[in-house]
Amino acid sequence: MIAADQPKLIVETDAEALARAAAERLLARIAANPGRIAICLTGGSSPKRLYELLGSDGWRGRIPWQRAHWFIGDERFVPESDPLNNMAIARAAFLDGNAPPEHIHPIPTTGENPEAGAEAYARELQAFYGSDRLDRARPLFDLVLMGAGPDGHTASLFPGFPEIEETERWAVGVPKANVAPFVPRVSLTLPTLASCREMLFEIAGPDKRPILTRLFNGENLPALRARSNGETVWMVDRAALPEEIRGPR
Ligand code: 6PG
Repeated sequence: MIAADQPKLIVETDAEALARAAAERLLARIAANPGRIAICLTGGSSPKRLYELLGSDGWRGRIPWQRAHWFIGDERFVPESDPLNNMAIARAAFLDGNAPPEHIHPIPTTGENPEAGAEAYARELQAFYGSDRLDRARPLFDLVLMGAGPDGHTASLFPGFPEIEETERWAVGVPKANVAPFVPRVSLTLPTLASCREMLFEIAGPDKRPILTRLFNGENLPALRARSNGETVWMVDRAALPEEIRGPR
């Protein structure tokens, strides 16, 4: 079970309520920072509804686009034109037409290999941050969005892979993925992802129940090891909850 020093758990009724609650948290983080804002997006299917909401009429007017910068926590090493490209999905859903193009910071996937993409992205993050050393008192990101994969991976940090242990580099190339899609990846590392005011996991649907059960049981998986130096929040819906917690319907 989740102990007191574990991430804060927020349970929403269903995936739609979860996306709306996540959008409200994103806006609250923006409201808390009167200066330049940095949001680190995530890939996979979990954030799609959140992204759609952010691009919709009711929500996009609430975002100070001129102050907000958009990064991504991991990328599949495929061109931006490929439907698997994480940043392309976010662009299509809400960034294009709203965010100034120079405020959208994709992980480059046109270089020689994922490691080259990781090095280029680390340099871009360091230039944005103004240092190549992360200072705990000055988080890189206001908010980092995350998801949890069926094997307990998060970003593209897979269980048992060496990249999860990286403590120096800001981003790493991941030559082989542990789950589909089996394309090489580029991922931010745990210390880089931790440099945020809030890390927000979105975990919804019955397919997530087995992995959420393992995480609640404290298995030392990447999704459990990924923590913010500030606040870590797991936002889950009832369908993803293990049966004994969900209770009778
Ligand atoms: C990716 C992701 C990855 C994702 C989880 C959950 O590029 O695949 O960034 O870490 O968040 O695999 O994926 P789903 O949301 O599709 O379940």
